[in-house]
Amino acid sequence: MKLFLKIWRQENAQAKGQMVDYTIDGIDPNMSFLEMLDVLNEQLVAENKEPIEFDHDCREGICGTCSLQINGQPHGPDRLTTTCQLHMRRFKDGDTIYIEPFRAKAFPVIKDLVVDRSSFERIQQAGGYVSVNTSGNTIDANTIPVDKESADTAFDSAACIGCGACVAACKNASAALFVGAKISQFANLPQGQVEATQRAINMVNQMDAEGFGSCTNTGACEIECPKGIKLTNIATMNREFIKATTKG
Ligand code: SF4
Ligand code: FES
Repeated sequence: MKLFLKIWRQENAQAKGQMVDYTIDGIDPNMSFLEMLDVLNEQLVAENKEPIEFDHDCREGICGTCSLQINGQPHGPDRLTTTCQLHMRRFKDGDTIYIEPFRAKAFPVIKDLVVDRSSFERIQQAGGYVSVNTSGNTIDANTIPVDKESADTAFDSAACIGCGACVAACKNASAALFVGAKISQFANLPQGQVEATQRAINMVNQMDAEGFGSCTNTGACEIECPKGIKLTNIATMNREFIKATTKG
């Protein structure tokens, strides 16, 4: 395949970025999207040019780092698919492909296609955990029974990989789907009840402090989420927040 790429290049957070044109030839349709970028970078290095910075780690859809805006869509055209699991056969020979970083005030560009998503880490640190007493004997994992429906619902929420596609898809750059998933994961389990009150308030407050926008229920986040996280997670977040503030 021969492809015409328009890729966002930006030297650093302060620099003004721009789209730069690249032409790449001989791409195997069975390559992943990231492998195609690897080939381009090898070409750039051979030409003594600066390679393009992009985030990646697991390359199997579980770590959430490979966040690219491809032709205006977070993670590209396939539903329930991360950028690393997207294949070049999804495109046609001669296509022009626009590749940009995720755009949001709370995700500042570090370089080229790499954005700083540490705002997500700070939201997690504000309440995305359970405290466990580790002194004495280890508590058996099955000591607290969890019914099947709650376990399944919690597991679905826990599938969130923290990629940020929901934020990039949202016209308000809201992180409600991500935070909703993280709160729901614990709200559906008995282990999460101890800190439920502080968790909902602290995580929502941190989300606001990081500069994410408000949710207006447009649903773009659910459509673009590669892990199928449902809008009902946002409803759970709102319910947990209202419960917590009423108790407080
Ligand atoms: S909710 Fe979906 S889109 Fe948002 S961070 Fe989690 S996995 Fe990514
Ligand atoms: S590189 Fe880990 S999800 Fe894509």
